[in-house]
Amino acid sequence: MSAAAPAQVIAIPSKRRNVEIAPPDRIDDDAYLGQYIPLHYHGQMLADEARLSAFQEAIEKLVPEGSHVVELGGGTGVLSYFASKKARKVTCIERIPHVAAAARRLIELNGASHKVRVFEGDARTFVPDEPADVVICDMLHAALVRDKQIAVIEDFKARHEAHFGRAIPIVIPEATILAVQPVFQPYEFSGGFTAPVPLFYQAGNPHTPTVELGAPEVYAIVEYARETPVDFVFDRLMTIDTAGTINALRFVTKNVVGIYPKEARTSDWHMSYLSIPLPEPITVQAGERIRVRFQYEAGASMQSLGNAISATPWRRTR
Ligand SMILES: C[S@@+](CC[C@H](N)C(=O)[O-])C[C@H]1O[C@@H](n2cnc3c(N)ncnc32)[C@H](O)[C@@H]1O
Repeated sequence: MSAAAPAQVIAIPSKRRNVEIAPPDRIDDDAYLGQYIPLHYHGQMLADEARLSAFQEAIEKLVPEGSHVVELGGGTGVLSYFASKKARKVTCIERIPHVAAAARRLIELNGASHKVRVFEGDARTFVPDEPADVVICDMLHAALVRDKQIAVIEDFKARHEAHFGRAIPIVIPEATILAVQPVFQPYEFSGGFTAPVPLFYQAGNPHTPTVELGAPEVYAIVEYARETPVDFVFDRLMTIDTAGTINALRFVTKNVVGIYPKEARTSDWHMSYLSIPLPEPITVQAGERIRVRFQYEAGASMQSLGNAISATPWRRTR
């Protein structure tokens, strides 16, 4: 009988042993909601031509030569890179350690590290070493839920004013227009699986199966350089144009990234449409009015918006 083989010790090749393994980012995803965007999602944001071209044009036109630009939530640093073409100095703050490290590397790769400094930290407590002439911030999300665009910009504006005694004249994007529309949203997926869940899809895509039953109505215009709303309240009668079944509300989010009065033009970025299912579908006739209601805080969870929406037939009794 042979003796039991001694437990094998597997030698780790020395090359591997020397590899530095970065500690995982300590992120509580619930608390941060849409704020945690690891590097592997940034590729998609870089490939979003509609987004980047709107920001690139706005930055080129609105950033004054020789200015100081602060970017809140720098990600890969792409918007800071655009800003470096005009600015004297760009201060970029990014909270996720591995993303901030990537931004430094990419800024260097693109030859902009003589102008752009990337700080790792929280934009909600950050104070730059000199006043900002322009603030850039893309923490945008459809319907302005999840991401903290409004709160982060408001906090920074207040801190900036308290610290330097002056307001920030230019914020990019300049504004966001929010609208809501009654629709029929097909919720049948492959294999006949039915699932009324929140759905994102490309804005303005003529091939979408969504059926518009009434016109979109604007419920907020957020101007980032001015005082911004804390929450959105909607309680209106909407007129139906086409008979059918309303089973969802579509949230339309258009960012006016730059406004150029002399050219009578803007750079716009339509974010993905978002259809949120209603608790109960309603059948409607053309010309009928329905009462649509919702209320949510800017940056709130998608669930809280989903729980807050309602649409009911409106029949005025006299
Ligand atoms: C939508 S991405 C945009 C990134 C980049 N500005 C761009 O346009 O590609 C938002 C970025 O903000 C960062 N972020 C979110 N909250 C932050 C905070 N409180 N402080 C600093 N960065 C934050 C995220 O980690 C993410 O990289």
